[in-house]
Parts: sequence; C-alpha cells; structure tokens
Amino acid sequence: MKRLPWVIKYRPKRVDEVINQDKAKQILIPWIETWAKGKKPSKRAALLYGPPGVGKTSLIEAIAKEYGFELLELNASDYRRDTDIRRIVGSAATKKPLFGKGILILLDEIDGIAPKEDAGGLKALLEIIGYTENPIVMTANDPWKDQLRPLRDVVLLVEFRQLSTTHILKLLERICNTEKLYCEKEALKYIAERSMGDVRAAINDLEAIAEGYRKVTLSLAKALVKGRDKSIDLWRTLNSIYYAKYAWQAKKAVTNSEEDYETLLAWLNDNTHKKYKDPEDLYRAYEALARASLFLNRAKFQGHWSLLSYVFDLMGPGVAFARVKGGISRERYSYPEKIKMMAQLRQVREVREGLASKIADRVQASRAVVKNEVLPYLYVIFRNSRDPATPARIALGYRLTREEVKLLAGPRADEVLKAAERIRRARGVDVEVKEEKPKGLDAFLSKRSGRRTRRRT
Ligand SMILES: Nc1ncnc2c1ncn2[C@@H]1O[C@H](COP(=O)(O)OP(=O)(O)OP(=O)(O)O)[C@@H](O)[C@H]1O
Ligand SMILES: [Mg+2]
Repeated sequence: MKRLPWVIKYRPKRVDEVINQDKAKQILIPWIETWAKGKKPSKRAALLYGPPGVGKTSLIEAIAKEYGFELLELNASDYRRDTDIRRIVGSAATKKPLFGKGILILLDEIDGIAPKEDAGGLKALLEIIGYTENPIVMTANDPWKDQLRPLRDVVLLVEFRQLSTTHILKLLERICNTEKLYCEKEALKYIAERSMGDVRAAINDLEAIAEGYRKVTLSLAKALVKGRDKSIDLWRTLNSIYYAKYAWQAKKAVTNSEEDYETLLAWLNDNTHKKYKDPEDLYRAYEALARASLFLNRAKFQGHWSLLSYVFDLMGPGVAFARVKGGISRERYSYPEKIKMMAQLRQVREVREGLASKIADRVQASRAVVKNEVLPYLYVIFRNSRDPATPARIALGYRLTREEVKLLAGPRADEVLKAAERIRRARGVDVEVKEEKPKGLDAFLSKRSGRRTRRRT
C-alpha cells in the first residue's frame, strides 16, 4: 500500500475533528445549513482567511462530506483566466448535483490572483457570486490585498486563527501514539512551539524526523526543525499583536517572532497608526512603543539585558491593550520607512567608504585619517566655495564619480557637475567626472599617452 503523507493521513474527516476553530464553525455551519435546506443565504459566497495550515481547506472538505454536498475543488491555477472561471465555476454555479444537496464550490487560495493580469477573472467571479445557485467558498491567507476589496464586500468573512501550542501538542501526541513512535514530550513541545500555530508545518516536521530516525527526541527536533518563512512570520506576529485577546498572546507573538526586535519595532511604528483610529488609543500605543525603543537601546548599548522583558511587554501587550475605545482598521500592513531609509543610508556609507579609500591611495594616508581630516574639508569646499569651479577641479583631479560628487556637494551637486563639464570641454582632454568607478592611475596614464601620439599624427 502506498504510504500517505501524514498531513493527509491525519486530515480531519469530520467537522468536530477540526480543532480549535469554533468561531469559524459558528459562522460557517448555519450558513451551510441554510443552503442544505434548499434556501439561499443573503451572502452566497464565503471567504475563509487566516494563516497557512490552520484547517481552512480541511474544514470545508469535512463540511461537504457531513452535509452531503458534492465538492468541486479548484486551485488558483485552475481559475486564473476569466474564460476558465466562466466555463468551470460559472457552469457549476447553476448545476444541479447528481447526488446530494448541491455542489459546494471551493476556490482555494484566491489571493494568488494577480491584481492586474487576472482582473478579468475577479470580475467574472463577482458576476457568478451574484447569480450562483450553489454555495461558493474561497480561501486566502491575506484577504486585505487591494485586489480582493470588491470581493470582500459581497462575501461572508470567516476568520481562522492560528492554533495554540497546546492544541497542536495534543494532535502530535495522538499521531505519535497511533504510529507507535517513540516521542519525547519535550520534542513535541518544541515542534509545536516552532510551528507558530501552523498544524501542517508541525505534522510535516514530526514526520520528517520520524522517517529519518524512527524516534523523535528533543535534540533531533532542535537540529532539524528550521525557521519559518519570514513574511508570513511577520504577518502573523503583527496580527497576533493587534488582535490579541490576552496579554500573553501579544507577548508570545513578540518573543516567538523570527524577526529581530528592532525590525519588529519599525513595523509596529509604521503600522499602528493605520490600524488604530482613536487618538487616545494611538497616544497610548506610541507611548508604549517609545518606551520599548528606549529600553531596547539601553539593553543593547549598556548591556542591561534584563530590560528586554519590558521591551516584550511594551511591544506586545503595550500596543495590543493601548486600544481601549476605538476599533481596528483592516488596512494592509506596509513596509516601514525606517528600513527603507536604512537601506539608502547603507548606500551613502558605501559611497563614502569608496571615496575615502580613493583619496587615501592618492595622499598616502590611512582611510581613517582621510575620513576624519580630509573629507570634512572637502565637504566645506564642495558646499561653500563661492566659485563652483574650485570643487569641480578637485573632482576632475581626483577623478571622482558622480555619486561621490553628489555626496560631497549635496544640494550643489548639479552646479559642481556642470562646472566640471565646462572645464573638461575647455581643456579638450579626457578628464571627466565618470559614471562608473575609474580604472586607476595606470589606465589613466596609458590612455593619455595614447591620445597624445594620435594628436601628433
Ligand atoms: N484545525 C485543525 N485541526 C486538525 N488538523 C488540522 C487543523 N488545521 C490543520 N490541520 C492539519 O494540517 C493540514 C493542513 O490543513 P489545511 O489544508 O486545512 O490548512 P489551510 O488552512 O487550508 O492552509 P493553507 O492556507 O496553506 O491552504 C491538514 O491536513 C491537517 O492534517
Ligand atoms: Mg488550504
């Protein structure tokens, strides 16, 4: 017999085997019961959303089975183009089933639809939702993507939350027992924690270790279980903070995150004002973030690592429970300005280092000396000398690149570059402010002598 992967073997077969998703069931079950009675609920499609591996697809499959629906399951690749949607989904939407109560149409991973290329597909889908005679269920990890906005308004939104470590642990223990596998409890706990609420990941990790070693110990688990995907991790962390019910959830989100604390802080700084709308909520949240930043710096630069505990409290519960009055907006998370700026700063730093070593070569001094004793004067000359020809001559003499001139001259860069161009033309020689890095003195000399010979002829 072919061996099934455990995620399939242990897939929930009945609705009550889908654990930890009671809220989602409370919304979905009455909706599907209405369909099962031959009536039509006001919203004819549902959108199940939440992080990966928490039972979205499993629950729908279990529901179909238990309520007697034929299941038509499609993946994003099946319904990309609008012609496919009209042909497959459109015809299923009005079809009477051969057996059972109806056809349950499952469009899995709808957030895989691209905003521009597949816009026609989404439009077709909206039309079909308008007239369908059969229930349509869609799943997505991130339903707040812009392109899904029109869809959000016409569907029943059902949130799936990541599973608690305890629930995952129980599931793993059950599998270990059924498989008659030697498993250390600490190892299972480790796997469950690292899965960050993703049951599929936890089961896969367990199976991988079991298959390789026929036993699951803590040291094996530690050696084999890898970190999870970063963007999903970040999305999950932010969600767990903003939507935390309990303080410990928010704190755990921070301590469990794969991201370093500074990056996380930058994300919270740039997204909290979008999520919270009430001014007092915002005031409290930013107060907490400001303190978190203070403590984080003290921990890092003065070595007071015990302060980290406050950092976690302030970034997690501090932000989560700053929201007292106002609601929470559904806006998408955006990339923090600070991180973008850091990347730009890194570029500036690189240009400066390049410039320093170029000058260091020429003046026979160390780079440190150049940075401390030469560059400051160059900044003053490039930015303040009355005649831009002065810095321009220096730029030509040192064969500076455009980037280097921009760094030194700042707002006057254009002026200096133009002056350099004028001088270059007036001299009629090949000294120029170069686009790329100059090739060094030797290349410079040989090129010059080459020209001279040509000119003489
Ligand atoms: N709530 C749950 N209860 C029991 N088992 C679960 C649960 N969630 C996930 N699993 C296990 O994890 C596997 C993957 O779950 P499922 O395919 O339903 O996740 P999903 O939420 O649809 O994820 P994705 O967003 O990646 O499609 C299932 O086969 C099942 O073994
Ligand atoms: Mg799924």
